[in-house]
Amino acid sequence: MSGRMKVGALISGRGTNLQALIDAAKDPAYPAEIVVVISNRPGAQGLERAAQAGIPAVTIDHKAYESREAFEAEVQKALGAHNVELVTLAGFMRVLTNSFIERWPNKIVNIHPSLLPSFPGVHVHEQALEAGVKVSGCTVHFVVPEVDAGPIIGQAVVPLRDDDTPDALATRILNAEHKLYPTCLRLIAEGRVRIEKGRTLVDARPSEFEVISPSS
Ligand code: GRF
Repeated sequence: MSGRMKVGALISGRGTNLQALIDAAKDPAYPAEIVVVISNRPGAQGLERAAQAGIPAVTIDHKAYESREAFEAEVQKALGAHNVELVTLAGFMRVLTNSFIERWPNKIVNIHPSLLPSFPGVHVHEQALEAGVKVSGCTVHFVVPEVDAGPIIGQAVVPLRDDDTPDALATRILNAEHKLYPTCLRLIAEGRVRIEKGRTLVDARPSEFEVISPSS
């Protein structure tokens, strides 16, 4: 189907969020499609997922480039070659330069496994357990130069358990991510997300978001 928003996915690893987006886009009524998958790590499992789905999978190994800018120029070229309109970061472990981000204003989306602005960065689940919060979750947001900041598009809440471990919590949050990311991408592709004064206004019924995901 033509007219679907063309999305490029940047990954570094196993690509379960990528898979969730690919699966959502299998429905021809879904308003976006993944047209290219780019990994900065050779052999990333997500590349196989792309190939399985018949989506062009490109490796751009950052180690082969002398600067971030040179690496990003290659990424930009691949995105351009596929007429990408929106970039999704799906477990992409490189920080993007300001100039790359400025080339894609409010056109890069990321998913982070906490309720931002709590627990940005790494070791997110350890941070949540250490802080003793009773809920955590995941956040889909537009990318701005500051890492793990930017207008929030959607969040899903996951309760913590008294006997939680970082791995157990990560697994439950990942399940929520796989629902939240396709939902947020749909809303963007349908033109239902606006940004005003650094915040989003999302034209969606609460039932379109699964706000509380099961604790099991
Ligand atoms: C996810 O937890 C995502 O929130 C974070 O990196 C992880 C990627 O997992 N940014 P996967 O590669 O999508 O399985």
